[in-house]
Amino acid sequence: MVAPNQGLEDIVVGTSSICDVNGKTGQLIYRGYDIHDLVAHSTFEEVVYLLWHEDLPTQAQLSQIDSELKASRSLPSPVVAMMKQLPKTANPMDALRTIVSLLGVYDPDGRDNSIEATRRKAVRLTAQMPTAIGAFHRIRQGKEIVEPDRNLSAAANMLYMLNGEKPDEYAVRTMDVALVLHADHEFNASTFSARVTIATLSDLYDAITAAIGTLSGPLHGGANEQVMRMLLQVGDEDKAEQWIRDALAKRERIMGFGHRVYKTDDPRAVELKEMSRELGERAGQPQWFRMSDRIQRVMLEEKHLYANVDFYSASAYYVMGIPIDLYTPLFAASRVSGWSAHVMEQLESNRLIRPRSEYTGPTDKKVVPIGQR
Ligand SMILES: CC(C)(COP(=O)(O)OP(=O)(O)OC[C@H]1O[C@@H](n2cnc3c(N)ncnc32)[C@H](O)[C@@H]1OP(=O)(O)O)[C@@H](O)C(=O)NCCC(=O)NCCS
Repeated sequence: MVAPNQGLEDIVVGTSSICDVNGKTGQLIYRGYDIHDLVAHSTFEEVVYLLWHEDLPTQAQLSQIDSELKASRSLPSPVVAMMKQLPKTANPMDALRTIVSLLGVYDPDGRDNSIEATRRKAVRLTAQMPTAIGAFHRIRQGKEIVEPDRNLSAAANMLYMLNGEKPDEYAVRTMDVALVLHADHEFNASTFSARVTIATLSDLYDAITAAIGTLSGPLHGGANEQVMRMLLQVGDEDKAEQWIRDALAKRERIMGFGHRVYKTDDPRAVELKEMSRELGERAGQPQWFRMSDRIQRVMLEEKHLYANVDFYSASAYYVMGIPIDLYTPLFAASRVSGWSAHVMEQLESNRLIRPRSEYTGPTDKKVVPIGQR
């Protein structure tokens, strides 16, 4: 039996002044600013400020938040020691969820839920999550951890901590745009999960740990990794169209397509498509973009489904040399800014989130004592 409102489709469950998604026009707005405008004229650090406050920062405000973030990047040494105990084969999203939970134990603000303490915790977590992703990746490869570099932006430092080499300007710009695009998305599943968790007056670390778990599934942030695995399986751009038609005939779900809210182009995919094309050409690997483009055409023709944020980010990250199982952690490293903004907004006018279900089980049964069952 399909319950009324199953999946809460189109159900408005609260108000928010952080982010607006218009599924008909394909618009994404952070606090009044169109995502294309932000991509063209701002950086991830400016967007973090925008999401946590009500407007873009002045130069002084930007310098302030930038230095707070840079000063907070290092991980407590017991956390690094425990990371070394994790199996090297652990899925990086599982590792990230575990590390974030652990970081909560070492945060000097503890379970203080005042807005000031929650903001300080948000700074630490937004600064430390990229370090945790980079460190886990280095540890599992048996390499030395690359310490964060205070001279680098969030985007440059992320790439530096993964590879141990200073990235070029184009790679930094690409990573910065990816961080801006993934920073927030209204009441998506992981953000909702964070809001449900903080609404019990737990704390930011509980909320972000829950959100990471929610993001990891292939119907949400985990789709970007599945997209790249699919492209590798297709292998040859000339085989792409038939491969997709065959998969659709078997009623398979094609990762990176469809969206609960967008019924037109996802504006993030529009930006990422161009990035994927240009990165592919620069890297001398244009086939992944071309294959993706062909798949997109078939999906539109056959299913009237558009590519979502996860489709072109896959081929873009791949030609940047980012390991496939880090695509979803990178999504989380950006979205932590949005999750934190929502946690602070929820705390400012909190009420427990507790919906109802329609009971469909049996009624009027009597307990038969265990010996007689
Ligand atoms: C995002 C997503 C979960 C939204 O799901 P939803 O709003 O619940 O939509 P539904 O699952 O009810 O799908 C509606 C119809 O479209 C089809 N559909 C949706 N996405 C599809 C996809 N990616 N591939 C093939 N068919 C798809 C469904 O099979 C269903 O068809 P039916 O009515 O004939 O059974 C869904 O589009 C999906 O699974 N996409 C792939 C995973 C993905 O890329 N996730 C990242 C989202 S940003």
